[in-house]
Amino acid sequence: MVSSSEFEPGQGTSLYVHVPFCVVKCGYCDFNSYVVEDRSVHDVFLDALAAELRQQWRFGTPVSVFIGGGTPSLLDPVRFERLFAILGEHVPLRECREVSMEANPESLTRDKAAIAAAHGVGRISMGVQSFHPHHLHFLDRAHSAERAEAAFAEVRAAGCRNVSIDLMFGIPTETELEWQQDLERALRLQPDHLSCYNLTFEPGTRLTHDQREGRVAANDEEIDRAMFLWTRERLAAAGFEAYEISNFAGAGGPCRHNDHYWLQGDYVGVGPGASSHRAGVRATNLKPVETWARAALAGLPCSGSAETLRPLQRASEGVWLGIRRRDGVDLAAIEQRIGVSVLTSFAPIIERQTRAGWVEFDGSRLRLTSTGLLLADRIGGDYLGAGLGE
Ligand SMILES: C[S@@+](CC[C@H](N)C(=O)[O-])C[C@H]1O[C@@H](n2cnc3c(N)ncnc32)[C@H](O)[C@@H]1O
Ligand code: SF4
Repeated sequence: MVSSSEFEPGQGTSLYVHVPFCVVKCGYCDFNSYVVEDRSVHDVFLDALAAELRQQWRFGTPVSVFIGGGTPSLLDPVRFERLFAILGEHVPLRECREVSMEANPESLTRDKAAIAAAHGVGRISMGVQSFHPHHLHFLDRAHSAERAEAAFAEVRAAGCRNVSIDLMFGIPTETELEWQQDLERALRLQPDHLSCYNLTFEPGTRLTHDQREGRVAANDEEIDRAMFLWTRERLAAAGFEAYEISNFAGAGGPCRHNDHYWLQGDYVGVGPGASSHRAGVRATNLKPVETWARAALAGLPCSGSAETLRPLQRASEGVWLGIRRRDGVDLAAIEQRIGVSVLTSFAPIIERQTRAGWVEFDGSRLRLTSTGLLLADRIGGDYLGAGLGE
């Protein structure tokens, strides 16, 4: 049995498992995911995952497991079972406090949800993004609004009690009314958690390319802000706790895995392109499925790069990751963990941001103010830049 003290936030080691396959590559997405028609590649992926876990996982019961992607639910039922058999050989999934899995409506069925639940998955996060056909089409999603609702019902019918929905707002041409309709329709499903992301134009994506070519224009920032503020109000009224800028906990509570990450807890990532971070060393796996798999199957390291973070850099990342949490960043905890005083090392930034009314320090925690909430990326980015010596 695992003692509860092992589950202090940020303590222990988490496991991330990356399943890199998708039915389509969405134009806005810069995650390491591929459309692969040849299903035998799925078998190679599973063989290599088993090999990498054998090599990498020696930490007993993880504090949390997150099976993400890509689209884990895309694997067919037999391979899906095998994924859990492989994980179960190395990790006592049923003893973990939280096991989450990402899923897409087009491939998540009642049978797969039941398989996942039987192996200890207690939290399913379903990427719905929008319920408007023209926005789903613009986003390249492979499912309809009706399929998303049906998949949600199937997950419930399989007995999953903690189901989260991912939505996006700020889709080009989207109106405030359309976003409100999306969120209301998601609420009618009674999810246990919601993630509402402001669509980002990520470098290197088709969306960003189309923007550069003048084929797509980003929404007016004022509209995105109004959507963001309305979301917070509406979800507070519906009983959801905004524990992080984009994440809202209902009956299912916060996602512990993400919280562990935002608190700079240690984690091991397996699968192509997955990152690991342990005691200030960050490693990132080779991205292409074949290259990663070849290394794993040959018993070689799967990481394509590794760096030992300098203490100042680690401290800056601690603020960058933590400042988006409602509880803010515990500066004494960073000092204890890394040996860097954020107050001293980043004094000019904290002073400037406090004077601007963006952050406040209560003697122990640095938090965003209501004005700062709208500028979180920039505020966090200031620390990150300073930590890198920019
Ligand atoms: C990378 S996906 C993986 C899960 C699943 N395949 C899906 O599409 O939902 C995880 C979530 O990241 C979010 N996401 C991905 N790219 C994004 C972007 N450019 N801007 C905002 N959110 C994004 C989406 O909401 C998505 O649900
Ligand atoms: S958003 Fe999800 S489904 Fe779309 S490409 Fe990215 S990982 Fe795949």
